[in-house]
Amino acid sequence: MPTPAIADLAAGSSIIHTRRGEEVRLHFVTSDDAEALQAYVRSLSQRSRTKRFLGALSELPKAVLDDFVSLGRNDRYSLIGTMELGGIACVVAEARYALDRASGRVEFGLSVHDRWHGHGIGPALIAHLEGRALALGGVSLSGDALRTNDVMIALARKAGFTIQPHADDWTLVRFEKVLTGRVAQPSSTGLQVVGR
Ligand SMILES: CC(C)(COP(=O)(O)OP(=O)(O)OC[C@H]1O[C@@H](n2cnc3c(N)ncnc32)[C@H](O)[C@@H]1OP(=O)(O)O)[C@@H](O)C(=O)NCCC(=O)NCCS
Repeated sequence: MPTPAIADLAAGSSIIHTRRGEEVRLHFVTSDDAEALQAYVRSLSQRSRTKRFLGALSELPKAVLDDFVSLGRNDRYSLIGTMELGGIACVVAEARYALDRASGRVEFGLSVHDRWHGHGIGPALIAHLEGRALALGGVSLSGDALRTNDVMIALARKAGFTIQPHADDWTLVRFEKVLTGRVAQPSSTGLQVVGR
């Protein structure tokens, strides 16, 4: 499976859009983003943090934050999405994904800031992650959500994921999608997935 050049990833960015067409710029998280990422996590509602991290926390523990900003370590990648608001780039979303090379599974988790829920950023981010997973050579994209997380379950179902009870934890569901697209050459604004 291809190993992306980390320096190239760190330098690039991609654009996704809200349902109304506003731009959200995605870039890979590096150590330069540690403070912004932590501030974003702290600024989420407790409810959103619990849904995202599947447990109560007020911020990312140091070891987790270190892992999040270590781009490509153990085939793990974090993205943050920013929007220009009043001339300032504000973090409005983040996602993390990891490739298991043995199975070809790519697992992900994501969040959108409470202020921006319902604007289509989550669906756009998941579509983008499908392209990223394909680019890594992934054969499927999957993740876990609290079984009470109706929005994520509805979103995943609409995006073509199957939803099943989690094998090891009754509080969770597992959503999974087999990836069938091909990835075109990266464009200046990011990956284009074709051949669906
Ligand atoms: C889950 C989350 C990422 C969704 O992101 P979002 O940008 O707010 O998503 P949106 O509300 O714009 O879109 C969700 C989709 O599900 C649909 N939806 C939402 N709630 C629904 C419900 N109760 N029943 C049916 N459909 C529903 C929406 O209509 C939308 O579909 P559409 O794009 O076809 O219109 C966001 O709510 C979040 O960050 N939550 C906290 C963290 C979290 O739960 N992470 C997931 C676990 S890893």
